[in-house]
Amino acid sequence: MKILAVCLGNICRSPLAEGILKSKLPESFIIDSAGTIALHEGEHPDKRAISTAAKYGLDISKQRSRPILPKDFVEFDVIYCMDLSVFETVISMAKNEDQRRKIVLYLEEAGFTGDQADVPDPYWGNLSDFENVYQLLDEAADSIVAKLVS
Ligand code: 4NP
Repeated sequence: MKILAVCLGNICRSPLAEGILKSKLPESFIIDSAGTIALHEGEHPDKRAISTAAKYGLDISKQRSRPILPKDFVEFDVIYCMDLSVFETVISMAKNEDQRRKIVLYLEEAGFTGDQADVPDPYWGNLSDFENVYQLLDEAADSIVAKLVS
């Protein structure tokens, strides 16, 4: 099973989602992340994301930002989008129904609905916004993982 987590810049939310999912799923799961923009391509995650993950024992410091590519829609089985705006961008890149079926809102998959289904973008915020994002992603990961391994 191959999972791709996607946000805007691939330096805050999706690197955290990648790290959290990797820590909770068996090694047979391949997990990666990407962004809908290439602005931060090649960069490591935001320092605040790295330090928040480290607080919970996760090392995401070696990840590198990359944009989502057409081949991702073929290679990955599921594409978790961090908010509705990302979801809409990713859906618009899909070439057919088979690819569109793979694209879901990460928090919706964990039972959150409406406005609650967006992981808020912490980029312009502070460390407590990163902490909030971490907690949301971690809580959601527990129900996603339970579904995936059942
Ligand atoms: P992310 O956060 O999508 O969670 O990685 C952002 C990172 C960078 C920018 C916006 C959001 N940016 O505008 O550069």
